[in-house]
Amino acid sequence: MMNTVNEITPGSCDLLCVVGARPNFMKIAPIMAALAEHAPRMRVSLLHTGQHYDAVMNHQYFDALGIPAPSINLEVGSGSHAQQTAEVMRRFEPALDASGARAALVVGDVNSTLACALVAAKRGLPVIHVEAGLRSFDRAMPEEINRILTDRISDLLFTSERGARDNLLKEGIPEQAIHFVGNVMIDTLRQNLGRAVPFRQTVAPEERARCDVAENNYAVLTLHRPSNVDDPAALRRLLETLNEASERIPILFTLHPRTRAMIEKFELMPLLKRARIVLLPPLGYLEMLGLMKDARMVLTDSGGIQEETTALGIPCVTLRDSTERPITVEEGTNVLAGTDRIDILRAVDAILSYGGKTGRIPQYWDGAAAVRIAHVVRDWAENGYKA
Ligand code: UD1
Repeated sequence: MMNTVNEITPGSCDLLCVVGARPNFMKIAPIMAALAEHAPRMRVSLLHTGQHYDAVMNHQYFDALGIPAPSINLEVGSGSHAQQTAEVMRRFEPALDASGARAALVVGDVNSTLACALVAAKRGLPVIHVEAGLRSFDRAMPEEINRILTDRISDLLFTSERGARDNLLKEGIPEQAIHFVGNVMIDTLRQNLGRAVPFRQTVAPEERARCDVAENNYAVLTLHRPSNVDDPAALRRLLETLNEASERIPILFTLHPRTRAMIEKFELMPLLKRARIVLLPPLGYLEMLGLMKDARMVLTDSGGIQEETTALGIPCVTLRDSTERPITVEEGTNVLAGTDRIDILRAVDAILSYGGKTGRIPQYWDGAAAVRIAHVVRDWAENGYKA
């Protein structure tokens, strides 16, 4: 794979922002825009590690959300966690040096987040972490390790929900480094709701007819956590349960590349084809938003979708035992159903009979989180990159 480190213009930036995987893109979009508007004197560049590389996982997001093209793509691609993290680090270091950046900004909890934070910190540069302090308290999740370590070496930590500050304080992060600014992903959602693609344009008419899909009469399903899809027995059990759920409500299943690969490897495709389940490829941001907006419910193991459904007021059944985003359960529309058959079907039935939780919008999920971040970053830079 080609290393394109030379593409970055030497000394070209003050702040190097990093993205790597799909859930990073909707977080960086409003941050880049807010920095351009509210910190115009800062020279900000975007670097893509190339952790996600499929066109649909990339261009559709960059184009739809108006994210500036990255100055550089490290093209690291897939690998084991160690390989991927190491490869990002190896390729990020010369790019960071060449950029002349005085600080690095990372978002979320993917392998690229940790890898770039580590390199910047060891180069003596301050690290800014957006979406800090979320904890599932489940170290079997690779993202939990990424969160804990990234926060530990960050200098400026922006949190998206109230409880995150307590998690950070308990881990010894100094109070003055933490800023509760709200949820940048919800900035993006609010900005783009009016542009969401109606589900009828995403789901073919024959499939809609075959499965009785109509507005407010379908569930959206996403699955990609290693704990749910990497083990053949666990994946089979989950898909059998979802088959049963589809007898109650048709399911639109958007397939992450890793999930499709596992379903094919374990020969589980025939199981899905028998059910009232429409299989869809990974969707662009506006298509996915359109699907969720008119859904009766969403079934997911994603982190971000738990937040998006709370912001949309759509009931969410989370197919995990824990969440790092507890506000979506405390105040939002989310229920943690886990992966047990009875619990999942009970959660689905509750929504079908009572409409599910209504919830309220958490504090600072108001569309202005990125502007708050830009103000803090600008003042911080003017103060010589010191808290
Ligand atoms: C990563 C993040 C996860 C996030 C998810 C969203 C980590 C540890 N995990 O998981 O937190 O929720 O992104 O999608 O960083 N693949 C492709 N094309 C791509 C990307 C991946 O085919 O563009 C396939 C490959 O088979 C690859 C597998 O998906 O091996 C896993 O990709 P990887 O980036 O390692 O992790 P995700 O499961 O996508």
